Amino acid sequence: MYQRTMGALAFVGGALLAASVLVEAAGPGGPQEASTTPSKGRSIPANSSVPGATDRARERDPLAKDDREAKILAVLDDLDQHRRGTMNVPREDGRMLRVLAESIGAKNVVEIGTSNGLSGLWLCLALGKTGGHLTTFDIDPGRFELAKANFHRAGVDALVTQVLGDAHEEVLKMKDPIDLLFIDADKAGYLDYLNKLLPLVRPGGLIVSHNMASPPPDPEFVKALTTNPALESLFINMHDQGLGVSLKKR
Ligand SMILES: C[S@@+](CC[C@H](N)C(=O)[O-])C[C@H]1O[C@@H](n2cnc3c(N)ncnc32)[C@H](O)[C@@H]1O
Repeated sequence: MYQRTMGALAFVGGALLAASVLVEAAGPGGPQEASTTPSKGRSIPANSSVPGATDRARERDPLAKDDREAKILAVLDDLDQHRRGTMNVPREDGRMLRVLAESIGAKNVVEIGTSNGLSGLWLCLALGKTGGHLTTFDIDPGRFELAKANFHRAGVDALVTQVLGDAHEEVLKMKDPIDLLFIDADKAGYLDYLNKLLPLVRPGGLIVSHNMASPPPDPEFVKALTTNPALESLFINMHDQGLGVSLKKR
């Protein structure tokens, strides 16, 4: 019985791993193609027995505090229902982005990898409260337009500046201090984004890096996050795609 249970757990774990390998890994400078993502909305059931999964039994879906939040959450719900080739963050990572951005009172948030705007909308939940602004970069014109439409219908156009182009080049135009940098574009390019933007992240600011579990991150990027004494880096939600949270120390 014990062996059968362990076998079943191993099978579930293997299936999750196999699904996660299908997530995108675009090369530098090239737009990512549609891919299957293991996470649609709440990716791990609340009572999951997946090894390493966080016990989410006490969590509930976000509750709108006001009409503005309700409008954004309605679009997020809609996008979660119809994800297709947009490679979005899982819902729990989106919620974490909001919590992080709002708790540090982020005014200037920079996102590399807009896609259809889903993670940007989670960030906008915070920015509507902090009086902040999101600058988000994407190289793909189709996803740029999708995001534009989603930001519009969520009523957050005024909170967002979208930049269309290769972020490796475009970020060099940034000059203002960054409160929160979210990296979620071409996986081989993370180290370049970090090297270019870390000097702009303010002391006490955050670097949030997506896909720290799956697809496997660039070891040099992980090394840069974990061996720099100026950073305190943690890795969370690693049962799914994984999120790096790095504090630039004061
Ligand atoms: C994983 S998706 C972003 C998902 C988004 N953050 C979300 O959760 O809703 C990665 C995006 O990065 C974009 N991308 C890839 N290489 C890029 C580059 N060199 N410059 C800008 N964007 C790039 C792709 O077009 C794609 O839309």
